[in-house]
Amino acid sequence: MSEWQKSDWRKKPRVQMPDYTDAAALNAVEAQLSKYPPLVFAGEARRLKQHLGAAGRGEAFLLQGGDCAESFDQFSADAIRDTFKVMLQMAMVLTYGAKVPVVKVGRMAGQFAKPRSAPTETIDGVELPSYRGDIINELDFTAAARIPNPQKMLQAYTQAAATLNLLRAFSTGGFADMSRVHSWTLGFTDEQEVQKYSEIATRIQDTIDFMAAAGITADTTHEFSTVDFYTSHESLLLEYEEALTRLDSTSGKWLAGSGHMIWIGDRTRQPDGAHVEFCSGVLNPIGLKCGPTTTAEDLKVLMSRLNPDNEEGKLTLIARFGAGKAGEHLPRLIKAVKEEGANVTWVCDPMHGNTIKSSTGYKTRPFDSVLREVRDFFGVHKAEGTVPGGVHFEMTGQDVTECTGGVRAVTEEDLSDRYHTACDPRLNASQSLELAFLVAEELSALRAEQGARQAG
Ligand code: PEP
Ligand code: CO
Repeated sequence: MSEWQKSDWRKKPRVQMPDYTDAAALNAVEAQLSKYPPLVFAGEARRLKQHLGAAGRGEAFLLQGGDCAESFDQFSADAIRDTFKVMLQMAMVLTYGAKVPVVKVGRMAGQFAKPRSAPTETIDGVELPSYRGDIINELDFTAAARIPNPQKMLQAYTQAAATLNLLRAFSTGGFADMSRVHSWTLGFTDEQEVQKYSEIATRIQDTIDFMAAAGITADTTHEFSTVDFYTSHESLLLEYEEALTRLDSTSGKWLAGSGHMIWIGDRTRQPDGAHVEFCSGVLNPIGLKCGPTTTAEDLKVLMSRLNPDNEEGKLTLIARFGAGKAGEHLPRLIKAVKEEGANVTWVCDPMHGNTIKSSTGYKTRPFDSVLREVRDFFGVHKAEGTVPGGVHFEMTGQDVTECTGGVRAVTEEDLSDRYHTACDPRLNASQSLELAFLVAEELSALRAEQGARQAG
């Protein structure tokens, strides 16, 4: 077999990718991006792989979250800070509640390209190509806005670099210092779950005070003052991915330099297609969305293509079936994994199987369905004796009204108030935190039971 090349995907059938009309402009952008520095480094991707391996064994838990689609328009330091903050809060709740280290991965700094259910969109009898994310075209409903423009890749790169720069500063520059655990509470949340969070924060603060008295502080202990935070996105726009792929001189392997972890979407996981081909050759941890149409046969082929050496942490299977459907689909896929003796990390995405159109016309997700799918996921793993390794959410630190329900009960009528997503509806800060408490409960109950079983 000849060696993998980063351009090999070009020989395979591709779906969900734009047809750029100006080949010269496209080539110029690709050439330019190829000279830019990678956004992430191989050592970081390898470290994330180790953490994901631990999550697959039940020794850690993945929290992956962020926008459905990052937007050029809504790009701001405050928005990044708020999502980062909520993820730290959620991680704290999970770590404290379930006594397990949390691996934090943002859908950030590269989550720009979107697969769509239809190639065109019709409004009032006018049919135009679908919006495919800010890295490709524009949301405005005009013919000009919907033309794919390769120049947008350069703006996406710049925004991703600036986002990552801020995330790196937040992670190590004092913001994530554990002794600031109280200050991570967002101003506008004062409800029940924030009170619960406050109680946890107080208990953590007590522990920190105790340790400080014993001479262990953020100054002496790196783990108290910094946090590991990784980036991820769907590897959809392969021209962009290829242009940022670099050879890692330490290992002689290829690195997708666009983000630490990349995943393959539910619509682009054809075993013989371009997206699987690209992802099969890079050293990064790879995510694979698994939906109701994923067959056991395909999954077996995909596992061997995407993780030929059966490395732990290399392949994360992201289950997204819809509330009430995990019981029908997850066991047959778990069986396929067992039959192959494959190492995988199972993660629950309770968002993409639960999108509905509200009576007021907005795309939304009922909080109860999201919660139910998380519970289904834990229930199946408990029954199968396998490991629920993490969760994957579309969420934001902003106080949006995009998903219905939650303790602050967003109603269908409320959706129009602050509906800002460029694509799918996201959980707001309060709903995200509420969900973290519920996941922590599920996880700690499961761990207590497994502990008891081991002891007995
Ligand atoms: C997404 O994660 O935004 C997405 C499109 O998911 P899926 O491929 O699972 O539908
Ligand atoms: Co989405």
